Amino acid sequence: MSETRPKRAYVETYGCQMNISDGELMEGILADRGYEIVTAPEEADVVLVNTCAIREHAEKRVLGRVSQLNGLKRDRPGMVIGVTGCMAQRMGETLLEDAPYVDLVMGPDGYRGLPDTLARLGHGPAEFVSGAHEESAPPGLVERKGRRGPQLAVLQLDMDENYQGLEQRRSDGPSAWVPIQRGCDHRCTYCIVPYVRGSEKNRSAPEILKEVRGLAEQGVTEVTLLGQTVNSYVSEGVAFPRLLRDVARVDGIRRVRFTSPHPNDVTEELVAVMAEEAAVCEHLHLPAQAGNDRTLKRMLRRYTVDSLMEKIELTRSWIPDIALSTDIIVAFPGETDEEFRDTLDLMRSVRFDEAYTYKYSARSGTPATRLPASDFIDPDEAQARLEELIEVSRAVQSEINEGEVGRVEEVLIEGEGRDPGQVRGRTRRNKVVVFDGDAARVGSYTRVRLERTTGATFAGSEVAQAYAEPVTV
Ligand code: 5AD
Ligand code: SF4
Repeated sequence: MSETRPKRAYVETYGCQMNISDGELMEGILADRGYEIVTAPEEADVVLVNTCAIREHAEKRVLGRVSQLNGLKRDRPGMVIGVTGCMAQRMGETLLEDAPYVDLVMGPDGYRGLPDTLARLGHGPAEFVSGAHEESAPPGLVERKGRRGPQLAVLQLDMDENYQGLEQRRSDGPSAWVPIQRGCDHRCTYCIVPYVRGSEKNRSAPEILKEVRGLAEQGVTEVTLLGQTVNSYVSEGVAFPRLLRDVARVDGIRRVRFTSPHPNDVTEELVAVMAEEAAVCEHLHLPAQAGNDRTLKRMLRRYTVDSLMEKIELTRSWIPDIALSTDIIVAFPGETDEEFRDTLDLMRSVRFDEAYTYKYSARSGTPATRLPASDFIDPDEAQARLEELIEVSRAVQSEINEGEVGRVEEVLIEGEGRDPGQVRGRTRRNKVVVFDGDAARVGSYTRVRLERTTGATFAGSEVAQAYAEPVTV
């Protein structure tokens, strides 16, 4: 192997869409500075584990993975292991202490300085390892002497960092994530996000539109706008509804989605844009979190069940056929059994098409952890509530989907199905459909009759080509 081959980096991402998008951003930043991006840690000189901190379970999984990756390091002493993202920000130098084989921890606002930071560890393509050192110490960089050598921490949150001007490295395909906002100005009492991602920072609308136009030129037809409270986006007088309309009108963009909105910023103006713009999909992910006013208040969600229902009615009055999904947390400290039953009632009365359900997980530093110890719910009880909620939400989902059998829907083919000769796609209403088709057609649109449902997903069959209008990407 020649001395001057580019250094190879591997990024492994856990967690939400924002984190996936951040993983692409890190790959873009590294590729731009001469790294080759590889798809297996065994091939990499630099391995970055891009982590999530939302629940304890997510963190435990990642810690296990990082120690497993350390096994690779034993045979390859020069390899760098970095932990990035929300868990890196949350645990900071403690992580470096507990896992001395980790060379670098970097929070979500540090990625611009990633190549320079790696250069300080003696890693990076030869041309910038030499000399880059003195010029650019990334802001907030802390160097420490670990038990196994130098370790670096970049954990400064930055009020202005929105990664303007940097390009994500996206895999080829019809769909792309487009982050429009970072951080969050809410302080829901269970949530770690504001502490690890800082306050809300929005990208400029012209830059977002330029990016979307560029994606469309490369053949992307579906974009998902990302932000922690995406619909509270506002930049230089451009608020989210206007941005959504402009994105939906970019030539070549056929589907626009966004996640996750905050219910309070679901306005008539937004719903009107969703209804009027043909490209905006008939799906809304609306995190409810709970169906009881006292719990919502203690979660600091800033809405009541009634006001949430009003938002849902408003949305349905403009888009009667809209599919709704949600996030629900059970066993928030102090939640009584009756209050939990209110959440079950909300599921039944709204009839969400899909629910992502979680047991409350205490995140150190968040306000909810300071509630009286007696409020914390017994793990067995929490598990029982979760199971009951899942049962109710699955039953609702199944009923809704049974009722949709027979519909003919536009489907974007996203990948191969589980069985040979099958493909998997998604309807505009975000329902997954599997049907007979050739994998070569991934990225194209077709029309599919929904024939059967497993409850959560559909089996379908393509309808006559006359309706198909395939768009090959
Ligand atoms: N415990 C359990 N679930 C949580 N979420 C956020 N924080 C916690 C926590 N501490 C859930 C919320 C959020 C989703 C992304 O994760 O439902 O909408
Ligand atoms: Fe967390 Fe609440 Fe912000 Fe969502 S709105 S990221 S739940 S603090």
